[in-house]
This record gives sequence, structure tokens and C-alpha cells, in this order.
Amino acid sequence: RKLSERSLAGVAEYILSGQAQKIVVMIGAGLSTAAGIPDFRSPKTGLYANLQRFNLEDPTDIFDIQFFQEDPKPFYTLAEEIYPGKYKPTISHQFISLLAKKGLLHQLFTQNVDCLERLAGVPDDLLVEAHGSFNSQRCIKCKTEYPTEEFRERVRKGEVVYCPADECKGALIKPDITFFGEQLPTRFRQRRHLASEADLVIVMGTSLQVGPFNELPEDVPHITPRLLINRDRVGSFGLRSDDVIWLGDCDESVRELADALGWREELEKDWTE
Ligand code: OAD
Repeated sequence: RKLSERSLAGVAEYILSGQAQKIVVMIGAGLSTAAGIPDFRSPKTGLYANLQRFNLEDPTDIFDIQFFQEDPKPFYTLAEEIYPGKYKPTISHQFISLLAKKGLLHQLFTQNVDCLERLAGVPDDLLVEAHGSFNSQRCIKCKTEYPTEEFRERVRKGEVVYCPADECKGALIKPDITFFGEQLPTRFRQRRHLASEADLVIVMGTSLQVGPFNELPEDVPHITPRLLINRDRVGSFGLRSDDVIWLGDCDESVRELADALGWREELEKDWTE
């Protein structure tokens, strides 16, 4: 075993001993709920429990590529609501950025499309947006990119945006976020091996219900300590001798971890700046 104890204090001690130089972080929607963006699967507050107005047979249809082609309105309505621009990173996002600043972040894999990792200052080279992001958008037919500012404006006005090219005959423009039925971005496949190089893995704010992302914590060798910070126990956490399960709110837990590391002041300063 590498951890002296299976707690935040044990993980902090491991980091401070210098044994964790390649930390891989894997996150999901739970990281952004404190920023005001709902997650997907929380029973009352999650997005999937609040889509009645769209009369969908299955709530995940809103991110289904076939459904989108038949009826783009539900997705466009939702896109207007969750479009980046009005949300700020949480202290948990800032903590990941601090790991990067200290040269300890090997890679951040996020399922979120809200761009809050970038806003917190995580460098592009250390970031894999495994389900894409709202950072760009393109025609689903000819794949030509559509200008971001214009797209944002039109989405805000409640319009559905189509490709201007004659040969596309009004094919839809879709943000480069991964829908069900689509492949994950190439970057995910290219960088997936980085998970197995980790000397510490931190998983936060995800139900680990969606593949192939949920295979990432399994790619990690059994001797590598894994820390789960989440409201619920998820995935295979607990089966390995160096698994730490820290149940609760991620911002609170991250502050506790920062305290144990002696980084709290720096973290709060970075966050408010
Ligand atoms: P989920 O909504 O499935 O899971 C969020 C997890 O975070 C749950 O376990 C919550 O209990 C937990 N959580 C919420 N707020 C929290 C907080 N403040 N502190 C700690 N834990 C908290 O979201 P994801 O796992 O990200 O895919 O969902 C994965 C994918 O499913 C998404 O990327 C999206 C969705 O369908 C696509 O759209 C392709």
C-alpha cells in the first residue's frame, strides 16, 4: 500500500511526500452544480428530471444525434440556458488549476461541456474535453465550422441555426459536444493512455454511468491510489486497497484537502482573483 491511511489526510501526505508527480483528474457535472449548472442524474435537481416541458420519451434523447436531426428545438432551447458565459468556475475547478500550476497535473479528463476548466486556467495541453465543448460548432453534414459569436447570438435569440452552404440544404449546426450515437473526440482516444501513467487519480462529481469515459478509472494500475470525491459512491471504488472514498460536497472536500496540503490560502487567492 502507498497511502498511510485511506482519507484526505492520507492522500495529502502522499502528495507532499513527492510520490504523486503525475496526478490524473477525472470529472463530471457534479463539479459545476455549485456554479449553478444542473447535473444530469441527481433525482430532483438533475437535468434529466426536469425535461418534462419537452415531452421526450427518454430524457437522454435531448443529446441523441438522430433525435436532434428530427427535432433540434429541445437541444437548442437547452443550449440557450446552459451556454457558457454566465457561469464562473468553482473552487474545485480552481483546485485542479492549482495542481497544474504546481506542475503536478498530468491530465484532466472532463465530461463537462461548460468550459469552466479553461476559465479556471487549466492549460489547454493538460485538458481533454472527452464529450467536447461549446467552444466551437459545425455543420453536421459538411463539417464546416460556424463562427462562434454569430452562433452564440442566434442561440440566445432562440433560433435554430442551419448551414449556409447551398449543397447542405439546411443541415443543422451543432456545437462540438458529443451526442449519444457519436464517437468521442479523437483527443480522448489519443490521450487515454495518460490515465494509466498516473501515480494518483482523483475522480470528482460524476456518476460514472457513461462509457467509455467510465472505463478511465479502470485503466489505472491497481497499485495506484485513487481518490473519489462525490456525493454518492460510484464505479468500482472501494475494491482496491488504496481507494479512498470521500462522500460529500466536492467544494467542501477540496477545501479540506487544500487545508491538509497547506495550500488553502493560495487556492482561495487564485479563486477570487
Ligand atoms: P451525473 O449527473 O450523471 O452525475 C453527477 C454526480 O455528481 C452524481 O453522482 C451526483 O451525486 C454528484 N454531485 C452533484 N453535485 C455534487 C457536488 N456539489 N459535490 C459532489 N458531488 C456532486 O453527471 P456526469 O457523471 O457528468 O453526456 O454525466 C456523464 C454524462 O452523462 C454527461 O457528460 C452527459 C450525460 O449524458 C453527454 O451528454 C454525452
